[in-house]
Amino acid sequence: MTDKPQDLYVGIDLGTSKSSIMTSDGGKSVVESYVGWPVDMVARKLVKKPVLIGKEALENRPMLELHRPLERGLIKEGSEKDQQAVRQLLAHLIKLGKVDKAKNNGSFIRAVVGVPAEALRVNREQLRESMRGFVDSLIIVSEPFAVAYGIEALLHALIIDIGAGTTDFCVMRGRYPTDEDQRTLPNAGDWLDEQLATLLKENHEGINVSIHTVRLWKEKYSFVGKPKRPVKVNVPIGGVPTDLDITSEMRAACEALVPPIAETLLDLISSVEPEYQELVRHNVILAGGSSGIDGIADMLAAAMMDFGGGAVRIIEDPIYVGSEGGLSLAQDAPKSDWEKLPA
Ligand SMILES: Nc1ncnc2c1ncn2[C@@H]1O[C@H](COP(=O)(O)OP(=O)(O)OP(=O)(O)O)[C@@H](O)[C@H]1O
Ligand SMILES: [Mg+2]
Repeated sequence: MTDKPQDLYVGIDLGTSKSSIMTSDGGKSVVESYVGWPVDMVARKLVKKPVLIGKEALENRPMLELHRPLERGLIKEGSEKDQQAVRQLLAHLIKLGKVDKAKNNGSFIRAVVGVPAEALRVNREQLRESMRGFVDSLIIVSEPFAVAYGIEALLHALIIDIGAGTTDFCVMRGRYPTDEDQRTLPNAGDWLDEQLATLLKENHEGINVSIHTVRLWKEKYSFVGKPKRPVKVNVPIGGVPTDLDITSEMRAACEALVPPIAETLLDLISSVEPEYQELVRHNVILAGGSSGIDGIADMLAAAMMDFGGGAVRIIEDPIYVGSEGGLSLAQDAPKSDWEKLPA
């Protein structure tokens, strides 16, 4: 007699810049959310693959029609290629997590997918379609809720997930969050990159840098408040490699992110029952890659000073916390919370 294969639980974090997967089998992978198809016969001959995903796609971008399935917190729905891109990215994650193997072994697959809060409102049906065939049962949740679940910040906590496409807020009141408990801002990492690129162009005539380079500088040198050291880079200006001090531009672009986040944070806290507001103010948790901006937690805490003060901390492992939360949710969710996803 053969044993019935065990159910496999999966947590997926579908992000604008990075997506990750964790499974109950111990599978764990992360991939940049880029999908690229070779533009022509020459490109196909060089890259030797029909489609490239993640870092490989980014590195070969001149030869590719490059797509980012998510932008500004939404799944792009315009073209056939955009729809294929989401599916390709999910298929890749499923393969990395060895979920397809479990499926071939006859396991029942239950996946929780975390997406930006806005995508949850707008793209739910498209997401469901994109997951068809990969899993048997599905729950779609917002990213900040998956994060809250992952770190068990379930009561009197405010999660702020400062990602690439959006900053997502979620106040936890000891139950599933509703729409009123969540907010989304378009001000996040991608927006910061654009601000920085604009400032650099304004202040340095003839500067020629791609948005990818601007992003790399930001990831290395981002800060708010008093600079600890000057930010110096080397760029071609009018074709000549030139040393440039970009400290003030870096500071201005990063600090531009703070007022909208502080305003939304205070607004969301004011919606909490008055007797719990202080608890929430002292339990503000930053997640997402852009929480790596040096000094941002202190600056957000300072914004609460006039409102009774508060404390802001940063999650330690921002890369996997979303998919880990998704996996925990999958393992805990009762049967009634799942939707069946026939192939
Ligand atoms: N050290 C750093 N300083 C500032 N920004 C950073 C740093 N490291 C990563 N980032 C930025 O964080 C963003 C990616 O964060 P994250 O992986 O949380 O996004 P995502 O989950 O893909 O996006 P979203 O949640 O918006 O869908 C990018 O804009 C990236 O440039
Ligand atoms: Mg995210």
